[in-house]
Amino acid sequence: MEKFELIETDVLIIGAGGTGLRAAIEAARYNLDVVVVSKELLGKAHTTMAEGGINAALGNVDPEDNWKWHFLDTVEGGAWLNDQDLVETLVKEAPDRIFDLEEFGAVFDRLPDGKIAQRPFGKARYRRTCYMSDYTGHEVLATLVDETRKLGVNVFEEIFVSKLLTSNGRVIGAIAIDMKNGDFLVFKTKAIVLSTGGAGRMYKVTTNPASATGDGKILALDAGAEVMDMEMFQFHPTTMVWPPSCRGILVTEAVRGEGGILLNAKGERFMKRYNPKLMELAGRDAVARANWTEIMEGRGTEHGGVYLSVTHLDPELVKTRLKTMYKQFLLAGVDITKEPMEVSPGAHYYMGGVRILNVTTETCVKGLFAGGEETAGVHGANRLGGNSLIDTQVFGKRAGEYAAKFAKSETFHPIDFKQVEEEQKRILSIAKEKDDKIRPVKIREQLSEVMWENAGIFRDEEKLNKALTFIERVKKEQLPKLGICDTTTLRYNKELIEALETINLVRTSELLVRSALIRTESRGAHYRTDYPQTDNKNWLKHIVWRLENGVLKYRFEPVKITIQNPP
Ligand code: FUM
Repeated sequence: MEKFELIETDVLIIGAGGTGLRAAIEAARYNLDVVVVSKELLGKAHTTMAEGGINAALGNVDPEDNWKWHFLDTVEGGAWLNDQDLVETLVKEAPDRIFDLEEFGAVFDRLPDGKIAQRPFGKARYRRTCYMSDYTGHEVLATLVDETRKLGVNVFEEIFVSKLLTSNGRVIGAIAIDMKNGDFLVFKTKAIVLSTGGAGRMYKVTTNPASATGDGKILALDAGAEVMDMEMFQFHPTTMVWPPSCRGILVTEAVRGEGGILLNAKGERFMKRYNPKLMELAGRDAVARANWTEIMEGRGTEHGGVYLSVTHLDPELVKTRLKTMYKQFLLAGVDITKEPMEVSPGAHYYMGGVRILNVTTETCVKGLFAGGEETAGVHGANRLGGNSLIDTQVFGKRAGEYAAKFAKSETFHPIDFKQVEEEQKRILSIAKEKDDKIRPVKIREQLSEVMWENAGIFRDEEKLNKALTFIERVKKEQLPKLGICDTTTLRYNKELIEALETINLVRTSELLVRSALIRTESRGAHYRTDYPQTDNKNWLKHIVWRLENGVLKYRFEPVKITIQNPP
C-alpha cells in the first residue's frame, strides 16, 4: 500500500458550493468535528451561475403569493415528476432560509418600503425571485464562505475524492488525493454529505465550470446508493454564442424577467408561435426548444443564435438590475442597452442524481446524505429558474442537520485498508508510463460533441443508440488505455485529476443515455422526437439505477404524490 495521511472527522462534506457550505454551517452547530473538502479553491462553484435569483414565496411584491403557489409552479414546471414531499419542504422552508442568508450577511436588493425585492421568473405565477442584481449566486456563495470561515469549519481545498469507503452497507470514510502535493488522504468519518453538484461537462456547450463532472453521483453509485431521473438534463435557453471564447457563458433568465424579448433573424418575436401566453417566461425546457428550433430551421443569427434584446428598456434599469450582463457583453464588444445579445441554449443543470429517501436527505446507504444538484426528485423533469439556489439552502441545511444527528449517535468504524489499496492501485495505473496511452482531453472532446449532437435538446432512438455505441466503445477500448503526459509526479498533476473526472463523465453519460432510451415519452427537459407526447398513463415514474456486482441494473419507482388537490 502507498502511504497516506489519515484524518478523522465526525462529518465529512464533499463539495463546497451552496449546498456543501450550508450543510457545514448547520453541522457545525452540533459541536462536532466537521470537515469540508473542495475540488476547487473555496468560493469557486457552479452556485455562482444561478445569477438571476433565489425563490421564496415572501409575497413582498405580489401579496397573493404563498407556498402553495410555489409548490404548484414547481411541480407543474417539473412536469409532475417531482417527489412532492421534497417540493413541499422546499417551498415551506424557503422563506426561513432567505432570512438565514440575511442573518449571515447577504445583501438583497430592496423595494422602496425596505422589503426584499422580487422579480418575475419563468413559469412562476407570481413575482417570487429574490435577487441581488444579476449576481445572486455569487453573493450567496460569498456570504456562505464568510459564515463558514467565521464558524471555524475546517476546509480542505483542491482535494479530489475518488472513492467512498464502506463497511456492511454504510459509509465509513473516503479516499482522496490532495492535488497540491499528490498525497493520498484517507478520511475516517461517521457521516458524509455529498454535494459535488452537476455534470454539465458531458456537453460541448455548457454554463458549468470544468469541475462539473458528475463525481458525486458516481461516488454514491459505487458506494451502493441509487441514482434516478438521469435522463433529465436542463438546457438553459440563453448562453453566449459570440465570440467563440465566450460560448456557453450564462445569459441570466433575469434578462427575460426584466422584460427582455427573443427575436429571430427575421425580427419576429417567435415565442408567440410557441407559447403565446407565457412568451419569454415560459419554462426553460420550452424556451430552449423554441430557440434551438429557430436556429436549426435557419432563422438564426450570423453566429448561430437568436437575439435577446433589452434595447427597449430604460438603460439605467439595465445597468443596475443586469449589471453582470451589461459588463459581460461590453467586454465582448456589445452594448446591450443599444444592441441585442446573441444567445443559444447550453447545458445548465442536472435534475437527475442521487436518490434521497425522504426530506432528511438520507440515501439508502447508512451514513450517506446528499443535497442540491447532487440529488434527484426536487425539480422533477425540469427545474424552475431560481429554485436551485433555494434548494441548496433548504436541503443543504437539512443534509448538515441529519448528517450531524447521525454522527452524534454513531461511533467510528475501522477502515478496510484493502479498499484503500485497491483505489490507490486504480489511480496509480492511470499515472504510470504507457506507450499507447489515450489522454483524457481526447475522450472528453469527443464525448461532449457526441452527447451534444445525440443526447441533447432533441433526442430519438437512433441518435441515442449512436451515443450509447460511442460510450460503450470508449469504455471498452479507450478507458483501459487512459494515461497522462507527466508520469514523474502526482504533485499538481492536473491531468491525472482530469483522467479520473473523465471516467466519471463517461459513466454519467452512459446513465443519461440509457435512461433516455428507456423513457419512451417526452417530459420536461427530456424531449424524444420519436415519442413527442407526455404519457402520464405509463410514465409517472422514475428510472432508478444501482450497481449489482459491478453491473448497472434499473427498476421503476412511482412518483411520490402528497397533495392530491393542489390549489
Ligand atoms: O438564469 C439564471 O440566472 C439561472 C438561474 C438558475 O439556474 O436558477
